[in-house]
Amino acid sequence: MTTVYFNGQYLAKDDVRISPEDRGFLFGDGVYEVIRSYDGSLFALEAHLARMHSGVCELGINGADVDHLGEVSAELITRNHLTSGDATVYLQITRGTAPRAHFFPDPPVPPTVYAQAGRFTPKGDPAKGVDTITVPDIRWARCDIKTVQLLPNCLANQRARSSGAQEALFVRDGVILEGSHSSLFFVFGEEVRTAPKNNYILPSITREIVLELCRGAGIPAREAPVFTHELPRATEAFLAGTTVEVMPIVRIDAVGVGGGRPGPVTRKLQDLFRARILDAKS
Ligand code: PDD
Repeated sequence: MTTVYFNGQYLAKDDVRISPEDRGFLFGDGVYEVIRSYDGSLFALEAHLARMHSGVCELGINGADVDHLGEVSAELITRNHLTSGDATVYLQITRGTAPRAHFFPDPPVPPTVYAQAGRFTPKGDPAKGVDTITVPDIRWARCDIKTVQLLPNCLANQRARSSGAQEALFVRDGVILEGSHSSLFFVFGEEVRTAPKNNYILPSITREIVLELCRGAGIPAREAPVFTHELPRATEAFLAGTTVEVMPIVRIDAVGVGGGRPGPVTRKLQDLFRARILDAKS
């Protein structure tokens, strides 16, 4: 039996009842987080909760105790016997349940708070790398908020999957920004480059850690746009994210990157990232 958290209670997953008038269902009016658990240790938990906190503030969703979800996450890991091996915790907060109207419920209603934990099996071989495709970025202009309205991301990822690739890379105004559920780095010779943090990308926690690892290891890293016309000059590329960790990209739109094999800078960052995980566990 899977135990989940729903509006202040721990319940069997099958016993959760969410109203069809929940604004998450009707409008995608909510935020979420995905947190990785390694042997029961929740990786970068505070950073995930801080981003969720800023998400609910940005959307004006009131009354959710985001900090309490740290405790809830740990409890779900224990209750679901996930204290060894890989798992993820999923958190979601919506604006709550009210008759359908575009304006916010007046008077306000309590938010809907849901959390679940489950076993996680990583996709893609980090030693071999993955194929990707580019897609036009049709998302809204607040990609910095981790909202549950992920239709453009789903369409993009499905397109990747249908063409035998693992991830789709969003391109807006000639700039390659990030993946459908991962952030994105390029290597040009010695230098690592990733799109700057603004309203067109998610402030990815893994992206921040990778930049920190670069600084610590003396790898030059720059937050600056990467244009599609620069792709042929890229010597390496990789995805970064809670689920993919540091994953080499070996092809973009069927064209090999860096000889179609994971390169030395990516492999170095994979090692450093693994060491960071071990460090966080101890
Ligand atoms: N996605 N960019 C987008 C659009 C994402 O959805 C994600 C994460 C990332 C990586 O962020 P982080 O390093 O904080 O995980 C970048 C989660 C894992 C998901 O939707 O499943």
